[in-house]
Amino acid sequence: MKKILSFCVLLLTMTQFNAQNTSIIPQPVDFTFTRGLPFRLTAATTIGGNNAEAQRIATILANKITTATGFAFKIRTVGNIQLTLNATPNTTIGDEGYTLSASSLGVAIVANKPAGLFYGVQSFLQLLPKEIESPSVVAEANWTISACKIVDYPRFGWRGLMLDVSRHFFSKEDVKSYIDHLARYKYNIFHWHLTDDEGWRIDIKSLPRLTQVGACRVPRFGKWGTYDAPKDGEAATDCSFYTQEDIKEIVAFAAQRHVQILPEIDVPGHSSAAVAAYPELCCTKDPSVKVSPGHKFSEWPGDGTFKILHDNTLNPSDEAVYTFLDKVFTEVAALFPFPYIHAGGDECYHGYWEKNEACKALMAKEGMKNTHELQSYFTKRIEKIIKSKGKKLIGWDEILEGGLPPEASVMSWQGYKGGIEAAKQGHSVVMSPNDYVYVDLLQGDAANEPDQTAYKKVRLKKSYDFEPLPEGIDAKFVLGGEANLWSEKVPTLRQAEYMTFPRAWALADVYWSPKGSKNWDNFIIRMENQMKRADMAQFNYARSAYDPIVTTMLKDGKLTADIKTEINGLDIFYTLNETLPDKYTPQYREPILIPEGNAVTLKIMTYRNGQPVGKLLALSREELKKRAK
Ligand code: ACM
Repeated sequence: MKKILSFCVLLLTMTQFNAQNTSIIPQPVDFTFTRGLPFRLTAATTIGGNNAEAQRIATILANKITTATGFAFKIRTVGNIQLTLNATPNTTIGDEGYTLSASSLGVAIVANKPAGLFYGVQSFLQLLPKEIESPSVVAEANWTISACKIVDYPRFGWRGLMLDVSRHFFSKEDVKSYIDHLARYKYNIFHWHLTDDEGWRIDIKSLPRLTQVGACRVPRFGKWGTYDAPKDGEAATDCSFYTQEDIKEIVAFAAQRHVQILPEIDVPGHSSAAVAAYPELCCTKDPSVKVSPGHKFSEWPGDGTFKILHDNTLNPSDEAVYTFLDKVFTEVAALFPFPYIHAGGDECYHGYWEKNEACKALMAKEGMKNTHELQSYFTKRIEKIIKSKGKKLIGWDEILEGGLPPEASVMSWQGYKGGIEAAKQGHSVVMSPNDYVYVDLLQGDAANEPDQTAYKKVRLKKSYDFEPLPEGIDAKFVLGGEANLWSEKVPTLRQAEYMTFPRAWALADVYWSPKGSKNWDNFIIRMENQMKRADMAQFNYARSAYDPIVTTMLKDGKLTADIKTEINGLDIFYTLNETLPDKYTPQYREPILIPEGNAVTLKIMTYRNGQPVGKLLALSREELKKRAK
C-alpha cells in the first residue's frame, strides 16, 4: 500500500503543469511547475556566483537565509544555488529580468544584469516557506521549494513608491526598512519627498538655516490638522533632518537593493519651511512665517480654488531665489546618483505673486498673461539649473499649466489628464493618479480605519485595477507608475506599512506583470501568502479588504443597506439588536431593511470557512441614513 502511494506521489510530481503561481508578488511573466522532486535547502547547500557581481548578490541571499535557517553559506564560483550573469544577453529578459529553474538538483538563477539576479533572488525567497522571513532560527522548518521554471521581466522601468518625510519624519533606520520592503516586491524607485511646509529634511551645507530653522517646528500632538498655529515666542523644539552622511548611507543601502532614489525639493509652493529660514525669498518677506506644525493654513472653498493664509511660496521674480536654488540643487545633485530630480510644482498659491510689484513687472516685461505663465517661467529657470548639474527635471502635473519646460518629465497625480497631455507633447510621464495610487487615502470604511486622509477612498481592488498606460498615447512616453504615501496622518513606520501594504502589493503586479495576467482571486491568494510572510518578518499591513462595504438607499421612506466585500467567497453576518454578530447570527443574503428607531445599529462581521476574517463594522441608523443615495 505504502509503495502504491509513493508511486502515485511520484507520478503526480513528475507531471508538468502550468498553473498560476500562488506565492510570488509581483506575478512573474511565465511560471511553470516542472516534473521532479522539490529542491531542499540544507546545511550542505552551497551558493555560487559566476563573477564578482553575481557573488555580491549571492552574499545578499546567503545573509538573508542564514538568519532563519541557521546554516552558514560560503560563496563560491559554482554552487547548488547558482547565480549566473550572462556573457551573451538573453534578449527576452532585458536588464531587470531573470530566469529561475528549481529542481531537486539545484536552483539556477540567470540574468543579464545584477538587477535581474537580485529580482530572481527575491522570487526564490518568496518560493521558500514563510519561515524564511523569521528574524531568528526556525529549527523545524521544511526548507523546500517545488520544482519550477520562471521567465520574468518587468512591464515598466519606473516602479516607484514615494514617502513624505516632511509632515512626519522617518528616521534613517525607518527609511532603510521601508526601502528594504519595496525592493522585495521589485520596486526600483524610492521617491523621497524631502521638503514641505512642515519641515525641510535635508542638510544643505551652504544654506545652514534650512535645517537650523526649517527642520524645526513647535511640538503638537493628536489629530493632524486640528493643531494650534505656532504662538509668538513659542520654541520650535521638534527638529529632525538627514545629514549628508545619512543620505549617502541610505543611497548606498538602496543601491545594494537596486533601488534608485528620486529626491524631491518641492518648490515654489509648499515652501513654509524654506521661507521660515530665509523670509527674504518670498514676496511678502514675512519674518513671522513659521514651519507649520501641521496646523490648518489653507482655505478650500470647494470650487477648485484655494487660498494659503501665509506666504509659503518662493518669489519667481527675485534673482536671489535662483541663486538659492542653484545652491540647493548643486548639493542635491551631488548626493543622489539618480538622473532625475523632482522639483515639486504642485498646489502653488499665486495670491501673493498677484499683489507683488516685482512679479507684475516681470510678467509685463515677459508678456505673460497670467500667473500660471509666471510659474512656468520659474519652472523653466529651475530646469536650466537642474540641467546644469547634469540632471533632468520631473515635476507634479501642475507644471503643465503655463507651458512645460522643454525637457521636463511629468508625474501625473490629479488623474490621467496631465500625463496624457504631457505625453502628447512628447514628454515622459510617470502615472500616479491619486484615485488609484495614493496610499495615504482610506482603504476601508472610515468608521473602521485609523485617522486616515478621508477625502477619497482607494480600496485595494481599485489599486489592483490601475492601468498606467491609458489608450491613445504612445507607450514610449510612459515610464511607469508610482504610489505615494503622504504622511500627515502617518506618524510611525508601522502605520506607513499599514497604509502601504497590501496596496503596494497590488501595484507591484500592476507595474511589473503583463497586463493580461491580471486575476483578482489569484492575487488575493498571493496576498495572503505575503501576509503570512509579513507576520513572520514583523512588518505591518492592512486587512481592510476583508471588511464589509456598506451602501444604503432611502426610498419611499424605507432605509435599506446593501453589503458586499472586495474579496470573493466571504460570508457576511450581521445583527440589528446590539449583540455582536458571529456565524450564528443572520447571514446577509439580500439588502436589509433597517428598522426605524434612533438606537438601531447595524453590526457586521465577515467570515471565511467559519473563521472571522474582517473587523467588526458598526454603523448607527443615523450614519446609514446620512450615507443613503
Ligand atoms: C500632491 O499630491 N500634492 C502632489
